[in-house]
Amino acid sequence: MYQPREHFQSGHRFGIEFGGAVLSFERVTDVLRRQWPIVAVCTGGSLALVIVYLMMAQPMYTANARIMMDTRQAQVLDKDSNTSSALIDTGYVDSQVEVINSDDLILSVVRRLKLTEDPEFNGSKPGLLAIIMGKARSLFGSGEPPSQERIEHAVVEQVQKNLRTERVLTTYVLSLNYRARTPDKAAKIANAIANAYLVGALEAKYQSTKRATEWLQQRSLELSEQASASDRAVQTFKAEHNIVGTSRGLVSEQQLSDLNTQLVQARAATAEAKARLDRIENISDQDLAQPTVTDALNNSVITRLRAQFLDMNAQYADLSRRYGKTHGAAVNLANKMQELRKNIADELNRIGDAYRSDYEIAKSREASLDANLKELVAQAGHTGQAEVKLRDLESAADTYRNLYNSFLEKLQSATQNQSFPLSESRLISTATPPDRKSSPRTLLALVGGLVGGLCLGFGVAFARELLHDVLRTPAEVEDELGVKCLGILPDIGARAKGRAWLGSPAKSKSSTSGVSRYVIDHPFSRFAETLRNVKVSIDVARLTRDIKVIGIASSLPKEGKTTVAANFAQLIALAGHRTVLIDGDLHTRSLTRELAPNAGSGLIETLADPSTLGYHVQRSKETGLDFLPSVVSSRMVNSADVMTSKAMSNLLAVLREHYEYIIIDLAPVMPVVDSKAFSVLIDAMVYVIEWGETTRTALQESVAGSEVLQKKLLGAVLNRANPKMLQRIEAYKGKHRNSYYVENA
Ligand SMILES: Nc1ncnc2c1ncn2[C@@H]1O[C@H](COP(=O)(O)OP(=O)(O)OP(=O)(O)O)[C@@H](O)[C@H]1O
Ligand SMILES: [Mg+2]
Repeated sequence: MYQPREHFQSGHRFGIEFGGAVLSFERVTDVLRRQWPIVAVCTGGSLALVIVYLMMAQPMYTANARIMMDTRQAQVLDKDSNTSSALIDTGYVDSQVEVINSDDLILSVVRRLKLTEDPEFNGSKPGLLAIIMGKARSLFGSGEPPSQERIEHAVVEQVQKNLRTERVLTTYVLSLNYRARTPDKAAKIANAIANAYLVGALEAKYQSTKRATEWLQQRSLELSEQASASDRAVQTFKAEHNIVGTSRGLVSEQQLSDLNTQLVQARAATAEAKARLDRIENISDQDLAQPTVTDALNNSVITRLRAQFLDMNAQYADLSRRYGKTHGAAVNLANKMQELRKNIADELNRIGDAYRSDYEIAKSREASLDANLKELVAQAGHTGQAEVKLRDLESAADTYRNLYNSFLEKLQSATQNQSFPLSESRLISTATPPDRKSSPRTLLALVGGLVGGLCLGFGVAFARELLHDVLRTPAEVEDELGVKCLGILPDIGARAKGRAWLGSPAKSKSSTSGVSRYVIDHPFSRFAETLRNVKVSIDVARLTRDIKVIGIASSLPKEGKTTVAANFAQLIALAGHRTVLIDGDLHTRSLTRELAPNAGSGLIETLADPSTLGYHVQRSKETGLDFLPSVVSSRMVNSADVMTSKAMSNLLAVLREHYEYIIIDLAPVMPVVDSKAFSVLIDAMVYVIEWGETTRTALQESVAGSEVLQKKLLGAVLNRANPKMLQRIEAYKGKHRNSYYVENA
């Protein structure tokens, strides 16, 4: 039943679909033109509220002090790092902000400035709100007067609330803003807080240095003990292991190899002695005559004895061969030889003894060297272990000594720092009493009020528009119906009514009829001119198609169909065209009542016999308009059938022959079906929309219901526009826009 709006739209407009209506620029300006009083009231109201607030609010003053941060943190222990260029991380800066806001620091300021005695803080001059809050709080509290500590705490909280500390961009500067009721106090408290921070920073530095010094002292004491203990350990160890110097101790390679060589030599000597001894022992068993003996024994005594023996042996052999063995000389010689042999054996024994003793000596020397070497090797291993241990002890002692030395150095500088603690934080801008209040910000509040008021006004204006859902401008009509809006007809009753009030009741009656003949009385009025525009539009359309039968319809009753039809017809007739006006609203017949209240016959009778047309038509002398009234004794049930009957089309055919324009005042579309049905027979339809009354929904529903009607729809007029509002809507046309109209002529 409710068709989408696009169905009627001939073209696209630029805009956003908003709450069922297209929110285009034109629409916004239209809405503003109509609703500007609302916007003005909202803005004015909001501005008034702001002004009242500005007058009532307690002025506050903000003083600003700036502190340059300590770029060298308390780095007593970190002496090596290049402190002057060390960067402070943001966390440090932020914690300084917290330090400034801390309870302890603020409390020291509160105590120093005796803020608990200040009426701004102790509540001896409370505002209205504070009194109410105080009373409310006392309902829940114990009722006992608060302790000094609680009072101080409350003041601290209040000071913290008024204090705003922040880092200036990414610098190391802290900006301290304090808000107070008087400029002097603001500056005083801001400076006090800044100073408290600086003193606190010094104190903190002193404390940290002191703590560091104490720690250093204790630690260096420990270190000194450790260093001397480890030194002692080194000495004891050296003594225990018989190490004189660190250079001595290791058995040299040379010593070892020397000993080895001696041992090898000793072994060779032993072997030689043994060989000699063995030979001597072998010889004693052998025959002395053997030549090998002398070879082996390079001994002069034996060689001589052996030579004698060999001589005697040769003599003996000669004698015994010559004289026999029993010859005295031979026996004598044999005895001598025996003696010689004994001498040789004795000599050999003596040499053998000497050789044996040689061998024994060599053997014992070798054994002694061997033992020496073994001892040396064992000793070398032992001394190596001791050396390692000693090195260990010595390096520990070194470490402790170095540590101790560096701690001593640090301790020295820390002690200096403690006696002269230096803080790099400093006040770079002292707070001065501000010469202007910081809040309430008059301009900002006014602008805020203005903007807020405007926003509220716009909101209310648009809400009103959306809620009302009515049409007020040609653009809206065109959007809604997709056909041209032929004009806006102003409300002409107001003036007539106004006159009626001034005049007699008789005049009031004539004023009603005045509406239906307004174009005659006010030919140069805007009303007449708009209707002329309707005629022009029809005439233009007539160039392309035959338009004679023109129906005037509307969605709902009392939108002004009859008034428009009557005036329009009279206007055309006045222009000299052959025109007939038919009262086609068989239900109310208001046109007949208006123009020909005494008519005895009309449309129905003519339908029966179109040839009697001339008899039933009433011609106005004034305008030359022919009027065909409708006269029925009682309301008809089949009026729609009558309107669409064959007889009606016959009648219209006859009328088309006689007249240039046939204007028919129709019944409203929504309540009765007559107009929809009749639209088949007409050439064009002009739709009347009551300005600011007819809703879009009604319009949609009524027009969407009939395709024939849509097809015949030539245009629409907005009727009964409020002249004042119209002036606002049409302000864009310039101030001379109405100078061509003569309303009171
Ligand atoms: N432009 C106007 N200025 C002042 N009053 C007007 C205007 N148009 C119509 N009226 C008044 O509004 C009332 C209804 O008008 P009218 O009878 O023309 O409406 P209608 O649509 O024909 O009503 P119905 O559906 O009952 O036939 C009348 O009193 C008329 O005087
Ligand atoms: Mg009517």
